[in-house]
Amino acid sequence: MAIHYNLVNLKNGKDLVQRNAEEKDAEKMIEYLNIIGGESDNLLFGKGNFRLNVDQEREYLKNAKEDPNTLMLLGFIDDNIVSVSQISASNRARIAHNSEISISVKKEYWHMGIGNAQMNQLITFAKNSGITRNITLGVRHVNENAIKLYEKCGFIKVGVHKNFFNIDGNFYDEILMDLFLY
Ligand SMILES: CC(C)(COP(=O)(O)OP(=O)(O)OC[C@H]1O[C@@H](n2cnc3c(N)ncnc32)[C@H](O)[C@@H]1OP(=O)(O)O)[C@@H](O)C(=O)NCCC(=O)NCCS
Repeated sequence: MAIHYNLVNLKNGKDLVQRNAEEKDAEKMIEYLNIIGGESDNLLFGKGNFRLNVDQEREYLKNAKEDPNTLMLLGFIDDNIVSVSQISASNRARIAHNSEISISVKKEYWHMGIGNAQMNQLITFAKNSGITRNITLGVRHVNENAIKLYEKCGFIKVGVHKNFFNIDGNFYDEILMDLFLY
């Protein structure tokens, strides 16, 4: 994949550096993911529950970087990771025109426009792919911040997976949202 780089001036005056993830980011990524897992119940893992070790994460990042249908986009402020996001398409021909998005922002940086900036880059990547027609994602039904962000980016609700998430024995629906590019 080509090198991806972008700079955004945030509402608080700080610069957000957006670039694709590389193998060298593995340790910082794990540290980040283990922290944000505990900052909300809206991800697929909790605090300290991220399941890959550094070598596995390095391998994962290498594969992501080399996959032309994937952009793993990190957001940095002052050299620290403040956001991890990804868009990825299947390599199976019959569904290769569908891409899936995931995103997180570190809690102390919420509401500064970082989520929006990351989503814009992922959507532009999909538009430029020449293949993607539909971007899809799933979100816990009580995750208002995320749903508002996705709606702002043009996503619409297309369905629901009943009781999809089991968080400490409580079940929550997953809202399915799509952005149709063409
Ligand atoms: C969802 C998440 C990525 C949003 O990131 P963010 O950087 O705070 O988002 P932004 O600052 O770009 O906000 C984007 C828009 O969302 C909406 N929004 C965000 N927070 C809001 C709030 N508390 N109330 C109302 N609208 C809100 C607004 O429309 C906002 O645009 P605006 O600030 O220009 O009005 C972040 O809260 C997060 O990482 N949460 C935990 C992990 C998670 O839920 N990931 C998604 C799993 S599906």
